Amino acid sequence: MKLTIIGTGYVGLVTGTCFAEVGHHVICVDNDPAKITLLNSGGIPIYEPGLDELVRKNTADGRLRFTTNTGEGVEQSDVVFIAVPTPPLADGSVDLSFIEKVAREIAAAMTSYKIVVDKSTVPVQTGDKVAETIKRYCKAKVEFDVVSNPEFLREGFAVEDLMHPDRVVIGVRSQRPVPRMKEIYAPFKAPVIVTDISSAELIKHASNSFLALKISYINAISVLCEATGANVQEVASGMGMDDRIGRRFLNASLGFGGSCFPKDLSAFIKIAEQVGYDFGLLKEVQRINNEQMNRFLKKILDTMWVLKDKKIGVLGLAFKQNTDDVRMSPAIELCQRLQKEGAVLRVHDPKAMDKAKALLKDTTFVDDLNEVADGCDALVIATEWEEFKKLDLERARKALTHPILFDGRNLFDPKQMEALGFIYKSIGR
Ligand SMILES: NC(=O)c1ccc[n+]([C@@H]2O[C@H](COP(=O)([O-])OP(=O)(O)OC[C@H]3O[C@@H](n4cnc5c(N)ncnc54)[C@H](O)[C@@H]3O)[C@@H](O)[C@H]2O)c1
Repeated sequence: MKLTIIGTGYVGLVTGTCFAEVGHHVICVDNDPAKITLLNSGGIPIYEPGLDELVRKNTADGRLRFTTNTGEGVEQSDVVFIAVPTPPLADGSVDLSFIEKVAREIAAAMTSYKIVVDKSTVPVQTGDKVAETIKRYCKAKVEFDVVSNPEFLREGFAVEDLMHPDRVVIGVRSQRPVPRMKEIYAPFKAPVIVTDISSAELIKHASNSFLALKISYINAISVLCEATGANVQEVASGMGMDDRIGRRFLNASLGFGGSCFPKDLSAFIKIAEQVGYDFGLLKEVQRINNEQMNRFLKKILDTMWVLKDKKIGVLGLAFKQNTDDVRMSPAIELCQRLQKEGAVLRVHDPKAMDKAKALLKDTTFVDDLNEVADGCDALVIATEWEEFKKLDLERARKALTHPILFDGRNLFDPKQMEALGFIYKSIGR
């Protein structure tokens, strides 16, 4: 099928590429000319495992191309996906101006029947607004259908998630677009749920809020573990073996972040408020998450006493492993708060250093993870990159002025770390 994706970011680029990979003809549109120039010259604006290879292959095969021209994309496609940002406003509600603008642009370019699919994460009932807008601004007065098709990919595993989705959610107002939507997703061989638009929109916010809740739940348990000498990893394993609970998302840490969970949580709280429901449960999820960062910082301050002029090494800047995304990264927040206390930072991340440079001033960026500890008073692990588990601990112990390691991701075994001579502080153990 001929598909256009408007918005070539983390979601749009991966989705477009994977659609091309299964045989569709895809045009990816973005209004950032630098991004499109980079893509057209063979570059990739984000790090996502396996993505560059697929982009190269599908552009070479002529199934994937990039443009800044929305009109061209709309004209040459049967189905137009919207994958533009839905950032938070100051009061926690969603800034829908990107969606509204794209709806108008699509409407202006439509001269024949189109299916317009919203892939961005939006508040319930946005689909109705998009339909109204297109109807109002479409001079050609052609027919169209609006579909809600939320995206569930995880950054860092986005290609894998796109190629093997747990489910595909299709929200519609009539059955007309359903066969084509099913045809687009048929190669992915995933269960398809066809529902109304509001339910589809709610599925996304309800899912992300639930995952955030699961993280805050285990983080709350980690506080009890620390107070009682229990081990949160053992507790999580014991809980997770129950099929009704499941082990995933039960990893205690310094808290969740990223471009989705924090904003989707506040959006969902706001949406609930607008329909007259006080979603206190989710406010508590936010509170626990904020508190988890405070608690971790306090652990560092209690141990180090004064941070002014102390050198701290930080491993990890991305909001999680396998990505270069630093938007709302807890690791960046931690760095900024350590700097506020007067600490001098040496930092490393396998992929996110370039993007972090815009956010962290007066910081030494170190290319080799094993050299971060050199001359530092303590080392902090802030992101759960697999390769950090291979840190040369013997070297780190000698390189630190005193062997103190704060592990915000529970990557090491406390007993082994003590045996190696470290003062080792992790979460809930
Ligand atoms: N990142 C994720 O892991 C993830 C997962 C699921 C859902 N989502 C949702 O998907 C949406 C997009 O997120 P993202 O992370 O891909 O954002 P992003 O910022 O990485 O990408 C959005 C892109 O849209 C472009 N854009 C903005 N306005 C445009 C316009 N008028 N015309 C053409 N292009 C335009 C921007 O230049 C940018 O490249 C959000 O609603 C987000 O909540 C994100």
